[in-house]
Amino acid sequence: MDNKKSYKLTVLPGDGIGPEVMNASLEVLNVIGNSYNINFELSTGLVGGCSIDESGTPVTDEVLDLCRQADAVLLGAVGGPKWDTLPQDQKPEKGLLKLRESLGLYSNLRPAIIYPALADASALKRDVVLGSDIMVVRELTGGIYFGEPRGQNVNEAWNTLRYTRNEVERIAITAFELAKNRKGHVTSVHKANVLESSQFWREVVENVHDQYPDITLDEMYVDNAAMQLVRDPKQFDVIVTQNLFGDILSDIAAMITGSLGMLPSASIGEKYALYEPVHGTAPEIAGQDKANPLAMIGSVAMMLDISFGLPNAAEDIKNAIEYVLNEGYRTEDITSDGCTIVTTCEMRDNVIKTLETLKKPNPLK
Ligand code: IPM
Ligand code: MN
Repeated sequence: MDNKKSYKLTVLPGDGIGPEVMNASLEVLNVIGNSYNINFELSTGLVGGCSIDESGTPVTDEVLDLCRQADAVLLGAVGGPKWDTLPQDQKPEKGLLKLRESLGLYSNLRPAIIYPALADASALKRDVVLGSDIMVVRELTGGIYFGEPRGQNVNEAWNTLRYTRNEVERIAITAFELAKNRKGHVTSVHKANVLESSQFWREVVENVHDQYPDITLDEMYVDNAAMQLVRDPKQFDVIVTQNLFGDILSDIAAMITGSLGMLPSASIGEKYALYEPVHGTAPEIAGQDKANPLAMIGSVAMMLDISFGLPNAAEDIKNAIEYVLNEGYRTEDITSDGCTIVTTCEMRDNVIKTLETLKKPNPLK
């Protein structure tokens, strides 16, 4: 009898470098499946520009249903110059936003960790970045991304930034809970000196904080937070912020790690979870076997940990990534003097080879 555990995954490679990094990460997942005796049942769907080309819409109801039937969703990236001139509500990005909204994925976790081997690839000074470990908790289904009314005519255009108490409370809870297993320090980032919605955000987060006496809560205006992130990233542990500020600050945080190509993410709701790299579709290098697959592979690691309760499998992947970086292998985006430049496929193979040969006890420890 086969007692193999089985999980259903919906795989949405998307556009640009999405399919390449997805393929690389699925091969890594396959190795994990073999060593942990787990079967991953994959269904693939279209989202973004490829879905527009195929069916005229950035995500179909069938694909949304496929996501609802899965234990987790993996997504590559969406968008590209080909679809940039389409009206706002028909763009590839709309497919991603619809996925987030329909699956209720309100907590977006974007961990920015510096691998010591990459300290020289960061645009910031080695001493500034070494030792930083930040979790950006971005609210993902509210704020100005989704607020109504929104629209434009020839003379004006408008968006609405609105937050409900429930939306702020639940993301604050996510941040405080995460902080419990980290350094116990949350920074709530807002613009309460100007915006009513941020004044509200600040008060609601402070109220939730009353339930977490062991966690330190700091406040920071978003302009200052952007500056502090590049000045001294080590001062941060968990950053919790609204949708738009989180979008911007997580790109800044990515530069601490060396490249946007390094940042994985998890988008979690009450019922569903989606894992995707923070980087975009990089159309200029798409199809050339140059993309850095590590953010996508790292997103698979987050899935194994968060959705399937396999922290050891996640750890195996992270250790393999670290080992390969220590060996000097780099895709172009993270290379520095004395390193060996590798393709997407070679990076994947190096990670897999390391996973297969890393014997316990872990030689890295
Ligand atoms: C991200 C991206 C998306 C966002 C785009 C592609 C809609 O930049 O996930 O950070 O703005 O949320
Ligand atoms: Mn972004």
